[in-house]
Amino acid sequence: MTSSNDYLIQFEHVFFAYPGGGSVIHDFSAGVRRGEFIALIGPNGSGKSTLAGLAAGALRPAAGWVKVDGMDTADPSVIGAIRRRVGLVLQNPDNQLVAARVEEDVAFGPENLNLPSPEVRRRVEYAIAAVGLDRLRDRPPHLLSGGEKQRLAIAGLLALEPSCLVLDEPTSMLDPRGRREVLGVLKNLVAKGTTVLQVTHHMGEAAEAGRVWVLAEGKLQADASPGTVFSRPELLQRLGLALPPAAELAGCLAARDINVPAGIVNLEDMVHFLCRALK
Ligand SMILES: Nc1ncnc2c1ncn2[C@@H]1O[C@H](COP(=O)(O)OP(=O)(O)OP(=O)(O)O)[C@@H](O)[C@H]1O
Ligand SMILES: [Mg+2]
Repeated sequence: MTSSNDYLIQFEHVFFAYPGGGSVIHDFSAGVRRGEFIALIGPNGSGKSTLAGLAAGALRPAAGWVKVDGMDTADPSVIGAIRRRVGLVLQNPDNQLVAARVEEDVAFGPENLNLPSPEVRRRVEYAIAAVGLDRLRDRPPHLLSGGEKQRLAIAGLLALEPSCLVLDEPTSMLDPRGRREVLGVLKNLVAKGTTVLQVTHHMGEAAEAGRVWVLAEGKLQADASPGTVFSRPELLQRLGLALPPAAELAGCLAARDINVPAGIVNLEDMVHFLCRALK
């Protein structure tokens, strides 16, 4: 059984509305366990960004509660502690870059925590290495590529040593290579114990996560492994969402009586299956 201690972020009967607007999140209950990699998918306007803001304590529920590491995001006395636990990465990295050089940009956060300078340096080195920007440490951030900028935005948060990153479509402005770079960084971080909640419109990325949340009209429609979620094309079709390429290929093969085992929804698994089948 899962106890409430296993959850880094917990939503319990959460409702949310913007001022003057209708309800955006309706009775949302779910939890992010420590070390998990969750992909949050759903149609435009379904409430994904709102949920990301609620998870990071940037927004507060109108009813119900959100807890980060057991701390209620509606309690102003713990909001500083929550911000240090959860880093929020936005779609457009330009809005998160502040300094004249990559290294200074990463140092900005820990310096603001008034940490001693050897500790700031240690964190900067760790964060720059984690996103693979060592070679670009002296470059002005505005001269970086989109993927590099997004990795820099992630490094700036990593320097705060958060337990969790919440990312709102971090790859939507990036080309395929930039997307692969950022996804690679996230997977490495998860492998080392960071918890990740990523909003994405790219089903191929969602297929790589440990678990998928499907949101529509502010309600949780599914909370399951990628293999389970992407084996239910009816739900995704009804919501106007695509399948990951590998799941789509599995569907095409099934239509020609070649049955791919259920749950093969990402490219790596599909390649393994095809190699075995063709040998
Ligand atoms: N600041 C705001 N004020 C009023 N309404 C808002 C605000 N931000 C979002 N909304 C509304 O809340 C609903 C959910 O928006 P949200 O941005 O969370 O959706 P989303 O799933 O992230 O969409 P997208 O895929 O387009 O990014 C939408 O109907 C949107 O118009
Ligand atoms: Mg959004």
